[in-house]
Amino acid sequence: MLLSASALAVNYGAVEAVRGIDIAVGEGEIVALLGANGAGKSSTLNAIVGLVPSHAKAIDFAGENIVGMPTEHLVRRGLTLTPEGRRVFASLTVEENLLLGGYTLGAKSAAYKDNLAQLFDLFPILKERRGQLAGTLSGGQQQQLAIARSMMSSPKLLLLDEPSLGLAPRILETIFELIARLRRDGVTILLVEQNVAMSLEIADRGYVMASGSIVASGTAAELESSHIVEQAYLGAQA
Ligand SMILES: Nc1ncnc2c1ncn2[C@@H]1O[C@H](COP(=O)(O)OP(=O)(O)OP(=O)(O)O)[C@@H](O)[C@H]1O
Ligand SMILES: [Mg+2]
Repeated sequence: MLLSASALAVNYGAVEAVRGIDIAVGEGEIVALLGANGAGKSSTLNAIVGLVPSHAKAIDFAGENIVGMPTEHLVRRGLTLTPEGRRVFASLTVEENLLLGGYTLGAKSAAYKDNLAQLFDLFPILKERRGQLAGTLSGGQQQQLAIARSMMSSPKLLLLDEPSLGLAPRILETIFELIARLRRDGVTILLVEQNVAMSLEIADRGYVMASGSIVASGTAAELESSHIVEQAYLGAQA
């Protein structure tokens, strides 16, 4: 497995947001992490990259224990998170945002230039708008920039938190096509998404979270044909 976490838990003060999570992602897979609002999906992704206080029996990435490792070291090893909510640097240009994503490579390196050229091929709108302030892009364009910025560091594993949130249906298709294309290019993906149907369409496997725990897991086909996903969402609304 490229990534495996066992007995992962996240506490915010007295709030036990996530507990007992065992999750694994194999090289080349798209794995969906599903669940209703507040189930603990973002907390799980953030804990893997050390952004929230957590503890775990183990978190292994590419054969190495990464518990407590600083984010920059994780990025250098090929583990990158695209956080929820299209966090681009609004007052910087598109290209400056991409530069920050590739800071571990160095702006003068060949790898940086190669990645930039590749991403501009993948996201023509970002090439066109490279000099424009990121804050003036549309929501869909900002989401493309957020993903592109994560891609600048050449991740082996991309953790994607709600890439389609708040996007128009037409843009949503673009984002899902992009995710499928990233996988074809060799990127492994752990995908948190509210759009269950589209996620299970592109994912190999999935986990379903409810109230901080994993309540089901299986192949995308198994999850599609069972009622457990539906129940996990309805249960949280009850
Ligand atoms: N910084 C925080 N401080 C206190 N509680 C938090 C914090 N962040 C999240 N929580 C709580 O932890 C639980 C899990 O939240 P989390 O954001 O991980 O869920 P989620 O599955 O990503 O939800 P959503 O679909 O709304 O993004 C929720 O009950 C939430 O209120
Ligand atoms: Mg979330």
